[in-house]
Amino acid sequence: MATIAAGCDHGGFSLKTLLIEHLTESGHDVLDLGTYTNERVDYPDFAETVAKSVASGEASFGLLVCGSGIGVCMVANKIAGIRAATIHDVTSAHLSREHNDANIICLGERLIGPEVAKEALDIFLESEFQEGRHLQRVEKINKIL
Ligand code: RB5
Repeated sequence: MATIAAGCDHGGFSLKTLLIEHLTESGHDVLDLGTYTNERVDYPDFAETVAKSVASGEASFGLLVCGSGIGVCMVANKIAGIRAATIHDVTSAHLSREHNDANIICLGERLIGPEVAKEALDIFLESEFQEGRHLQRVEKINKIL
């Protein structure tokens, strides 16, 4: 079981709440880094906090939810050591881990249904980086400042 840092803006609050419940029921430890209400906020504040939690090693993985899953992904990928991916389906969920060693999953509450979101999150957490030919590519990503 993993420690997962979770964050969202107002556009992702309902889905983040549901997914935290799902993760907790599955036995994961979740650091809920906000936001904690439906009140309008700016997604960069929460995406940066989650990304820094993962980059520091406090959490093994991150979960970010906004309306589209796009804004939080842009922010998270500015933090060194973060490979965040916006995921809409189970195939991209496992490929992002197996080929790209993604460490943050970004979801769009306005674009993805709750059942697909839960399944994609589970598959993201269960899948493992395949290394091999993918390793040198990820190392090249990591060298770009
Ligand atoms: C907020 O309205 C919305 O722009 C945000 O949740 C996200 O979709 C940004 O990428």
